[in-house]
Amino acid sequence: MRINSWIYLVSLLLLWSCDDEPIVTPPADDSLEDIAYDPQAVILDIGNPLFPILEIPDDNPLTVEGIDLGRHLFFDPILSIDSTTSCASCHLQQGSFTDNKAFSNGVGGIEGKRSSMSLLNVGFNNRGLFWDGRVMTLEEQALLPIEDPLELQHQWPDVIEDLINHEQYPEKFRKAFGITNKSEITKELAAKAIAQFERSLISSKESRFDRILMGLDVFSDEERLGFEMFTDFYQGNNPDIPDAQCFHCHDQPLFTNNDYENNGLDFIISVDDFIDQGLGGITGIQGDKGRFRVPTLRNIEFTAPYMHDGRFETLDEVIDHYVSGGFYSPTKSAFLDSINLDNTQKQALKAFLLTLSDQKFLENPDFSNPF
Ligand code: HEC
Ligand code: HEC
Repeated sequence: MRINSWIYLVSLLLLWSCDDEPIVTPPADDSLEDIAYDPQAVILDIGNPLFPILEIPDDNPLTVEGIDLGRHLFFDPILSIDSTTSCASCHLQQGSFTDNKAFSNGVGGIEGKRSSMSLLNVGFNNRGLFWDGRVMTLEEQALLPIEDPLELQHQWPDVIEDLINHEQYPEKFRKAFGITNKSEITKELAAKAIAQFERSLISSKESRFDRILMGLDVFSDEERLGFEMFTDFYQGNNPDIPDAQCFHCHDQPLFTNNDYENNGLDFIISVDDFIDQGLGGITGIQGDKGRFRVPTLRNIEFTAPYMHDGRFETLDEVIDHYVSGGFYSPTKSAFLDSINLDNTQKQALKAFLLTLSDQKFLENPDFSNPF
């Protein structure tokens, strides 16, 4: 009783003395210092010598605790205005982190302008993100969906407040980043954690294609023919095997060169007429209009519909598009030209594409919803 009345008196005095100054010291019960901070470094198991080095920013090293926090945030609808939608609503593990829709739906079902992108091997996309390359890093990217009116429609200050008042997140932020008080939770730390989780989404050694290269499996005759056409294995020296030109843009081992190309989707006379200008909409350069990021073909079996606007439902339609050489437009790539493939050869090309499937990626418990 006595102590309590002392505290009461002291606080009254404090209140009185700090009349018009805000109280700066955060409340003691928001301290996180009692929780151990001992992050465990993660070295990703790429297991494929052909793969490039995964570039990781110096100020955001991968840790078990960081990836765990990022995974929770990625799957948590707490990031959306009405707690209905999360990153994972449009990036589903079973769709290789796409949503299998032509146009994604944000909060309230509102329809976006482009098709969701696979996040498989997204950490290797080092020449800009999104179909038009408008941001460079995963840390920058992860900030955007929260306030996007077509996606999560929320405001960061409100999200941060919810995270600070949450039962588990303050502890997770402490363990991942060593913050000493709940008030140190920021959107930048949330984005760092999400980026860490995304960098862990790797498919590099479990597809049949990878296993074939490692000598653990073999191509069927049909798949081998597809591979030879895709990669121009004979470099034009075997007239019986047409060159399908695919590897120029969908190069091994990532099956994307991460560049921006126009693969002839629309007949356009003037570059200003592209409905979606892609890279050119960002750079303003005429020669960039109608060019889009070359997507990976790994797990292509699971990411339909295809292209930035989801216009093709099936791989057969995609192959027919390339065989036709696509439509004229001023920025169309010179690698797009009609290819003389008969039905057997088209099927072989598709059979090869299906060797890029990695079912284990879709079922990996480390990538699944933690809630
Ligand atoms: C409403 C659906 C939707 C939600 C919610 C959503 N995304 Fe996306 N995401 C998309 C679409 C659509 C694109 C392609 C957009 C574009 O190119 O303009 C995309 C692109 C991306 C990319 C670029 C991938 C690449 O290879 O360039 C990343 C990374 C990404 N999203 C991560 C996230 C994260 C992290 C969240 C949650 C904070 C999130 N997304 C929430 C639909 C969504
Ligand atoms: C000049 C570069 C280039 C060449 C050559 C090329 N592609 Fe593409 N590919 C792209 C681009 C760019 C996109 C995305 C276009 C868009 O959405 O606007 C794409 C998209 C795709 C997609 C859809 C991916 C998705 O996630 O939606 C598939 C499948 C595909 N290509 C397969 C092939 C095959 C098979 C070949 C060979 C017959 C080939 N590509 C040749 C550049 C190329």
